[in-house]
Amino acid sequence: MSNQASRRDFIKSAAGVGATVALATSAVPASAQRAASRRAQGKSVMDLVVPAMPTVRLGFIGVGGRGSGLLSNFLKIEGVAVKAICDVRPAHADRAKGMVVAAGQSAPETYTLGNTDFKRMCRRRDLDAIVIATPWEWHVPMAVEAMNAGQHAFIEVPAAVTLEECWQLVDTAEKTQRHCMMLENCCYGEAELMVLNMARQGLFGELLHAEGAYLHDLRGLLLSGQGEGLWRTQHSIKRNGNLYPTHGLGPIAQVLGINRSDRFDYVVSMSSPARGLSLYAQEKFGANDPRAKPIYKNGDMNTSLIKTSLGRTIMVQHDTENPHPYDRINLVQGTKGVVRGYPDRIHIEGRTKGEDWEPLGNYRNEFGHPLWTKIGELAKQHGGHGGMDFVMCWRLIHCLRNGLPLDQSVYDAAAWSAIGPLSEWSVAHGSRPAACPDFTRGAWKKTAPLLIQA
Ligand SMILES: NC(=O)c1ccc[n+]([C@@H]2O[C@H](COP(=O)([O-])OP(=O)(O)OC[C@H]3O[C@@H](n4cnc5c(N)ncnc54)[C@H](O)[C@@H]3O)[C@@H](O)[C@H]2O)c1
Repeated sequence: MSNQASRRDFIKSAAGVGATVALATSAVPASAQRAASRRAQGKSVMDLVVPAMPTVRLGFIGVGGRGSGLLSNFLKIEGVAVKAICDVRPAHADRAKGMVVAAGQSAPETYTLGNTDFKRMCRRRDLDAIVIATPWEWHVPMAVEAMNAGQHAFIEVPAAVTLEECWQLVDTAEKTQRHCMMLENCCYGEAELMVLNMARQGLFGELLHAEGAYLHDLRGLLLSGQGEGLWRTQHSIKRNGNLYPTHGLGPIAQVLGINRSDRFDYVVSMSSPARGLSLYAQEKFGANDPRAKPIYKNGDMNTSLIKTSLGRTIMVQHDTENPHPYDRINLVQGTKGVVRGYPDRIHIEGRTKGEDWEPLGNYRNEFGHPLWTKIGELAKQHGGHGGMDFVMCWRLIHCLRNGLPLDQSVYDAAAWSAIGPLSEWSVAHGSRPAACPDFTRGAWKKTAPLLIQA
């Protein structure tokens, strides 16, 4: 989308914006209404810059499956020192400590004295930032504690599970002027960054519609009684909505300039019947097994539709409970063409023959993202979801060491995560539209779309 086109469209759609907001606020979750009227406790942190730090001193909370993977990536990056590790399971903390020592660093101090021992770690004066990879319900209390103690907070996905929590992150980041970034690694995939690059160069024309998803058969994991199976399953028992929206939504939100020239206006959502987990438990473990007993509330396939303030549309799906090849869709449709993932393919008018798709790889030489050109080979060697985890960690440390703004703001963490609770509200209210709060408090109108550089 050219700047000219986006400004023209913005003005053209201004009347429509009022209409959609009026519609949505009549159906807004009460908690969002309360939250929307809260006053900022500090200035905006949009494009926040903090002084460059030659070495980034990290603490980790939660070093299970994901925290260990992140630790392994950060340890491979120059200018990172890991000073402290917290986990309620001493064996996990010790394993992580061993990884730090094996990487040639001094042994970090460990904090393993129960669920709130992270507060003791946050009081250390030698930490710049805290990486949080714990169960979802712990993300916000931990990030708020870290920011209030003066550290930047880097939180796993989704950043928050309620609207109130989303606002807590925004308020605390503004009050403390700290970075609060959600570690949405999917924004750093090779295809996702290439699509961002293409969109910024206008290849798709005017951007109209996008689709993302988290379609990942997690039945075995959810019922394993280990790792995420110890806590994530509870969300499928108690909630019904789009429980894990940010992997699919993050990359397309960046392409569309959400929070930076456009914003989510409202969302409508519906869920299919919940069948997958019960059936799987009955078939694998027998009808009398405790795992076959719970009534799983979460509808297997959730489909949420978001309308943006510029009038564009986004579909986000979630299904972790049925057989399905891994799929985040990653579709962007513009007036000149379309791109879609799984497998990666593209159709551009005037370039692609007939009505066919062609492989996205055909465009790599012309549109490959400079970040992947620079560190892609290294990222593939180090691994982590095809290299995107390493690219994310490298880029985050690069920004901190060079005093640059980060690619994802607290407003992105809040807006992308909020689709979870907003979809729950819509599902519970006959798919009525739920208004998306403007976490930026209007700053989205004056902020240019993201351009990630190498
Ligand atoms: N971005 C990705 O690709 C990706 C992949 C997997 C998981 N995740 C996210 O990472 C987070 C963690 O997931 P996981 O798979 O590592 O789960 P996990 O259960 O394997 O690990 C969680 C860890 O947190 C620890 N923990 C729990 N409560 C704690 C507390 N109060 N204080 C300190 N430690 C505590 C547990 O002991 C465990 O070691 C989740 O938010 C999940 O959604 C993201």
